[in-house]
Amino acid sequence: MAQPELDRLKAELIEAIAAARDLAQLDEVRVKALGKKGRVSELMQTLGAMPPEKRKSFGQAVNALKTSVSEALDARHQVLAGAALVEKLASDRADISLPVREGPLAEGRIHPVSQVTDEITEIFADMGFSIAEGPDIETDFNNFTALNIPPEHPARQDHDTFYLPAAADGSRAVLRTHTSPVQIRTMLVQKPPLRIIAPGRVYRCDSDQTHTPMFHQVEGLVIDEQTHLGHLKWVLEEFAKAFFEVPKVKMRFRASYFPFTEPSMEVDIGWNRRTGELGKGGDWLEILGSGMVHPRVLANCGIDPREWQGFAWGMGVERIAMLKHGMTDLRPFFESDIRWLRHYGFSPLAPTMLHEGV
Ligand code: DAH
Repeated sequence: MAQPELDRLKAELIEAIAAARDLAQLDEVRVKALGKKGRVSELMQTLGAMPPEKRKSFGQAVNALKTSVSEALDARHQVLAGAALVEKLASDRADISLPVREGPLAEGRIHPVSQVTDEITEIFADMGFSIAEGPDIETDFNNFTALNIPPEHPARQDHDTFYLPAAADGSRAVLRTHTSPVQIRTMLVQKPPLRIIAPGRVYRCDSDQTHTPMFHQVEGLVIDEQTHLGHLKWVLEEFAKAFFEVPKVKMRFRASYFPFTEPSMEVDIGWNRRTGELGKGGDWLEILGSGMVHPRVLANCGIDPREWQGFAWGMGVERIAMLKHGMTDLRPFFESDIRWLRHYGFSPLAPTMLHEGV
């Protein structure tokens, strides 16, 4: 084949490439030109039978043809692929202004306990706390002994504990009566300084209008050098302002007693017991127990109390949910009444985000 014929073949192939309307057509052209049995490949195969003096110049000419055709194919491919993408984007466009369709996602609600637990953890996460967890079934040591509540201590009776049947060695596991054992678990394995919060379920054999046998707490623990009660008050005040979304909270710190803290205090929030309104009326609702971690608790976890101190608290999730959302009764939290859930639940499609810039 002479040069003019090669030029004609080139022009023919380039024209076919330009005529390809989509990627599939372009691929057909590619196969016909460069495929195993394609026109250019066939030319390559004739090289072997040629006399050497012809082979060189013809080989170069075919190679040049092949290069031109490949380049034309690539260029056309880019154009067609781009067009295909634009078309796909246009046809796939989602109309984000469409209202959400009726269905499980629109119907379902996030339970106030989940919502409030998330809000609490977000606020403390912003203050640099990390989340710790522990199991619902605890050892007697973690739930009581390590927290400075020895076997004969009267505080054990206050807790109305659910015990599990005794193991072969006589030890009895408990359904944890508070989230405080997560303090112990954390201090036993992590080195101070520590800043953790631990949300979770707790259990007490107690049931009336303001008590349910299972409820939720969020524990907080800070261990550092030179911590004092002022730090504890500041953290709790900042939390309350962020959580209730108000610049000032009616808050009362009341001296109290817990075996695992010294000194200890309980915190009440001003509210109206009848209407559930926050900061109104002369009533107080206790939301948490707190204090400076008892040196014996630190020592029980292998932390030197002469070097480290800390503070801790445990707050009731349902209690502060009631305060924030004007609920006056604790029991419906766990009755699964769809009407209550619809009213007090939160939409999964519009979650409240308290973190960053409340
Ligand atoms: N664990 C206590 C309870 O459930 C609450 C509590 C009080 C937790 C003082 C603490 C604390 O961490 O320091 O009643």
